Amino acid sequence: MTRRKKIYEGKAKILYEGPEPGTLIQYFKDDTTAFDATKKAVLEGKGVINNRISEYIMTRLTGIGVQNHFIKRMNLREQLIKEVEIIPLEVICRNIAAGSLATRLGIPEGQPLPRSIIEFCLKDDKLHDPLVTEEHITAFNWASTQEIDDMMAITLRINDYLTGLFAGVGITLVDFKVEFGRIYENDFPRTILADEISPDSCRLWDSVTNEKLDKDRFRRDLGN
Ligand code: TMP
Ligand code: ASP
Repeated sequence: MTRRKKIYEGKAKILYEGPEPGTLIQYFKDDTTAFDATKKAVLEGKGVINNRISEYIMTRLTGIGVQNHFIKRMNLREQLIKEVEIIPLEVICRNIAAGSLATRLGIPEGQPLPRSIIEFCLKDDKLHDPLVTEEHITAFNWASTQEIDDMMAITLRINDYLTGLFAGVGITLVDFKVEFGRIYENDFPRTILADEISPDSCRLWDSVTNEKLDKDRFRRDLGN
């Protein structure tokens, strides 16, 4: 393998310099963490599967006009992506109460929400990715009002599409997290979907049994 310059290493992925300016290579590790990396494991083959699942979902989203950073899968663990300036927010979309929303608001896990709810969290493990409002986001210049509107609209579009995609194979999309980045076209920033969409970043339940089919199996020591 040729030596490549490492640009960034996160908990589950590594970014390397890409073959052309404006591109990067995203490498999916088997490392798995939860609760801001206080719980760690290596799940053999996870990176290979997430690379495939994220490729599939990003490709389908491109097909419905949701612009994203994915260009092509290169091999088992790597994909070629567009280089973006990451917006330091995690955008969560929820259809059914679970996880931190269930705890925070005292709503039983599994209760359908009155409508899909979007939340913004600051991407900062040391602070435990705190929930932030539009006021914080614009005051601290993490994103503009226009970018907030774009992220909300794109996230709802992704939610509609993925809810149907998963329903077709007997899976309920409970909630998911996405991240966005900016690419500059003639000096104007455009907001595009980045990072990954995989069972690490979604809650997916069997539509019939409600069995958990996502990273909560690791977070909650459910095995399998
Ligand atoms: P939460 O209920 O723990 O806030 O998680 C909401 C959704 O976001 C769930 O699908 C898991 C995903 N998620 C991440 O992808 N990264 C994170 O750091 C956290 C906390 C959640
Ligand atoms: N953010 C990830 C999760 O729990 C991993 C982590 O927090 O370490 O889903």
